[in-house]
Order: sequence, then C-alpha cells, then structure tokens
Amino acid sequence: MTDLGSTPYGQALRSTSARVTDDDVTQALQGLQPSLHALRQGFNDGARSSSVSSDYSGKIAEAYLIAYVPGFIKQAETAFKLAELRAQSPPPKRVGVFCCGPCPEVVALGELFSGSQSRPSRDRLGTACPACFLSPKVSVAKETGECSECGAPLQIPPRNESELRIQLELFDLSPQSWKPIRDEVLRIAIGNAKRASVDLSCVSLHEFDIRDPESVERHSGVVADLDVAIFQNFQNELGNAREVRSAVHSNLESVARLLRPGSKMILSDLWHAMADHSRLTTLLSGLGAVQRWNQTVTHPMPNLFLRDHFFFQTPNCQKTNPRGSHTANFLLLNRTDDASSGQEGC
Ligand SMILES: C[S@@+](CC[C@H](N)C(=O)[O-])C[C@H]1O[C@@H](n2cnc3c(N)ncnc32)[C@H](O)[C@@H]1O
Repeated sequence: MTDLGSTPYGQALRSTSARVTDDDVTQALQGLQPSLHALRQGFNDGARSSSVSSDYSGKIAEAYLIAYVPGFIKQAETAFKLAELRAQSPPPKRVGVFCCGPCPEVVALGELFSGSQSRPSRDRLGTACPACFLSPKVSVAKETGECSECGAPLQIPPRNESELRIQLELFDLSPQSWKPIRDEVLRIAIGNAKRASVDLSCVSLHEFDIRDPESVERHSGVVADLDVAIFQNFQNELGNAREVRSAVHSNLESVARLLRPGSKMILSDLWHAMADHSRLTTLLSGLGAVQRWNQTVTHPMPNLFLRDHFFFQTPNCQKTNPRGSHTANFLLLNRTDDASSGQEGC
C-alpha cells in the first residue's frame, strides 16, 4: 500500500476508507473525480448565479474532504492567528463555528491551542514540586506518594486539572448531510487535542440558515454565550441575488450585536468576499473594532499519488489544478460595548 504519510491529505484519505490497498485507493479516488468536478463547477458558478444548490452529501463530501479541507484548515489557522485568539485572556470557553460543513475550523482550533498548552515529558509532572521546585516523576509519585527528586510528600493532581476545555457550537444549513465526514474529522481533531490536554469533546450541533432572521433569533441564547464566532467559506453558497446578500449582511450584523463585549467575530472567506467584507465593515463598525486582511494562505501540495489519481491536471487552468496556496479575505470584529469604536485599517 502506498504510504501517504501523516500529511493532512493522508489523514483525509485514510478517513474515507479504513483499509485500502493501492488498487482500492486508485479506484476510490478515480470514483470521486466526477464529484470533484461537480464541486468545482458549483464553486465556480456559485458566486455568479442567482440560485445555488450545493449538495454536500455522500461522495461530494468525500471529494471536498480530500480536495479542500487541508487548505481550509490552514485558512482557519490563519484566521485564528490574525484574530490573536491565543492571546485572548481568559482563553475562549465556547466557540461557535457557523456554516461548519466538515469542520476544518475545529482542527485549526485544536492545533492552535495544543501548541499553547505545556506538554509535560512522558513521565514528568508538568508542574514543579512545591518543596524542591523540580519536576517530579509521575510514576514514582503515584507509587510512593513522594516527590522523586526530594522525597517530599506529593499528590498528583487529577489528569485533567490543567486541561483547557473549549465547548463547540456547530451551525450549518444541512448538518446531517455532512455527518459521516464531520464525525471523522472531529474524531481526529478531538483525539489530537486531547493528547495536548485540550478538551474539544463537548460538541452541540444546530440547524441554522444564515439567510433567515428567524434562524438567528432562534439561536440567540447560544450566540450570546459565545466567546468566538467564526464563519468560513459560506459566501459561495449564497448566489448573487441582491436581496439574499443584503439579508445575510443584516443577519451577520444581528449575530454580531448578540455577541457580548470581549468576544470576537471572524469572517474568513475566499478571494471573492472582498466586496462583502467592505460592506460589512461599515455595518459592524458601530459594534467594535473592525480589521480586514487579504492574504495568501499556503498549504501542502497534494502528493503525486493524489495528483495522478484524483486531481485533474489541466494545462493553463489554475482553477482545476491542485494548488499549494489560495487567496483569502479575513474580517475581524473585536466586540466592545462602546458604540463609538471604529474601523482599524486594512
Ligand atoms: C464551502 S462549505 C464550507 C465549510 C467549512 N466552513 C469550510 O471552511 O470548509 C459551505 C458550508 O455552508 C453551509 N451552508 C450553505 N448555505 C448555508 C446557509 N444558508 N446557512 C448556513 N449554512 C449554509 C453548507 O452546508 C456548507 O457546510
């Protein structure tokens, strides 16, 4: 079997088929090509047509996982870094992921905070012994009730005492169609984070329509409790109908208004979102400090195996070739209760 390594592509591929041989993988990937084609067609048409119907179930969701999720994990990581989430004090306890799909944002969140947690060596306690200030061996302290370095009495705190716990509130128009892929992505993200004492296992799922003011109203209690609300890559889903876009802008403003002072709202979207972000900057600036960025997000190129059997290699067509980067637009609202705070540059 071809070893796809521990790259995000490898993880992505492994999660679509549990035990695979080369031939199985080749066939599985080639079987996903029509779905990749349909996805790209939908994305290319999405922002231009007045009605959009992206169906994200079955093979379409699998193709999305392999083609887009690795890059969108990096995009979410970039968004969280621009928003300086790690510096937020106290750390966020409840994060809302809107239009979440397969949840690349959750993988990025886990990565971000796993890096910030202290990682005690395997058999050393992460905190110092209060008597000698050295880091005692956990195995010795457990067995003898004493510090391995100075012999002072020592109690090992429960394992999760230093854990950072972030509750996840996931919102999507059709959460059920993503279920198999989302469950697998969350399983990997939660497992990785747990090894670094970050607990992401508390997950609630909400059916939510960003075009519908009643949907925002229905979830107002949850939204008001969020420390962070991220919306990533949903603009493509809305089509170009003016009434829809203006309803969405107004609903985003309602979400921002519900968020409490000290929280952050992050919009992270593709190259075409610049005009929407410009309009939203005006709408949101009464609710806190707004910042915007336009950045290239780099991510690993898919390996040769995926390039040969899954992606299309079309000369002179950037849109269908596998890519190692994409351009994204980011908007950050740092929510304050000061109606006079304004825009902070671009
Ligand atoms: C392109 S995917 C992005 C998923 C994920 N945020 C990411 O970055 O990979 C767009 C997601 O928006 C959801 N969606 C589409 N229309 C929506 C709407 N009107 N309200 C809420 N979610 C919607 C879709 O179900 C899908 O999960």
